[in-house]
Amino acid sequence: MSTTSFKLNDGTSIPWVAWGNGTGQAKKDAIESGKLALAAGLRHIDTAQIYNNEEETGIAVSQSKVPRSEVYVTSKIGRIAGDTQAVPLDQVRKSVQESLDRLGTVPELYLIHNPYVVPEGKLKEFWGILEDLKDEGKLKSIGVSNFRPQDIEAVVEGARYKPVVNQLEFHPYVLAHLEPLLAIQEKHNILTTSYGPLTPLLRHPTGGPLKPILHRISERLSAKYNETIDANAVLLLWLRAKQVVAVTASGNAERIKGLAKLYLSKWELEAEEVEEIDRVGKTIHFRHYTEHMENDFPVPDLPSQ
Ligand SMILES: NC(=O)c1ccc[n+]([C@@H]2O[C@H](COP(=O)([O-])OP(=O)(O)OC[C@H]3O[C@@H](n4cnc5c(N)ncnc54)[C@H](OP(=O)(O)O)[C@@H]3O)[C@@H](O)[C@H]2O)c1
Repeated sequence: MSTTSFKLNDGTSIPWVAWGNGTGQAKKDAIESGKLALAAGLRHIDTAQIYNNEEETGIAVSQSKVPRSEVYVTSKIGRIAGDTQAVPLDQVRKSVQESLDRLGTVPELYLIHNPYVVPEGKLKEFWGILEDLKDEGKLKSIGVSNFRPQDIEAVVEGARYKPVVNQLEFHPYVLAHLEPLLAIQEKHNILTTSYGPLTPLLRHPTGGPLKPILHRISERLSAKYNETIDANAVLLLWLRAKQVVAVTASGNAERIKGLAKLYLSKWELEAEEVEEIDRVGKTIHFRHYTEHMENDFPVPDLPSQ
């Protein structure tokens, strides 16, 4: 699996690596880093209302030398930072329009940032408004983020359009928890896009049992392709092998260039390596962004280290 894009259930395609500007230095330097990401060869930018940089995202896209038609933009409707209120149904159209105005362009993909953005019990109606906007040609692909099994079930039942993706914290240490959700997504052909994919190496206190395995695979790949392919890159290649979009971030010029190289590469894990990462990953439950997914979606009884 060395493709640069995956097919979505509405017939469109999505680049398999997204450069996100919701975290770290990338968030602060959304214009300069965004332009750098596009110049380096990346073609997908992930932003959101709550990152407060949709405008900067639009500027990065319009100022870059890459034609707009080659760039894939994802944004998300969400609460304004610090505001705990959901978006009332009668404000959804206005809120989406404000996103489009700030971006100065229609994003290829527009998501509900998490189920708490939606007034309680109103998921279906909220989704219906996004479906209307798609029918009216105001939105393109539509999807969700941080949706649990019950949220996906609520939205797909009788839907005109199923969400094309569910953007989740996704890496080997949440696999055991996500299994029931992934089964539902597979049934409805909803692709996973991953954020926080580097968590096992960057945020887990020790790296856990996967760390030596990822380093071993990194050495094999580096020798095979005569390139420096580090253990973080192995985690991203594992995503590609599993047909999961990698939503990662960097404000560091060298790392951005490395990410673009990875995006365009033909580097591949062996099937046994993918299976080994799955198997060992499922022995641990460790999540960095706990606020979204663990409410009313029980976590497995597994150690965190
Ligand atoms: N839907 C949601 O609720 C949600 C939630 C969180 C995030 N997101 C999206 O996902 C994107 C990525 O999230 P994430 O930051 O959690 O992803 P991540 O890929 O796990 O981590 C990226 C961070 O790791 C650092 N990094 C990357 N490579 C590194 C390396 N080799 N060594 C040390 N540090 C390294 C980067 O810092 P440098 O800048 O120093 O390279 C960056 O701050 C966000 O920007 C946002 O677009 C979505």
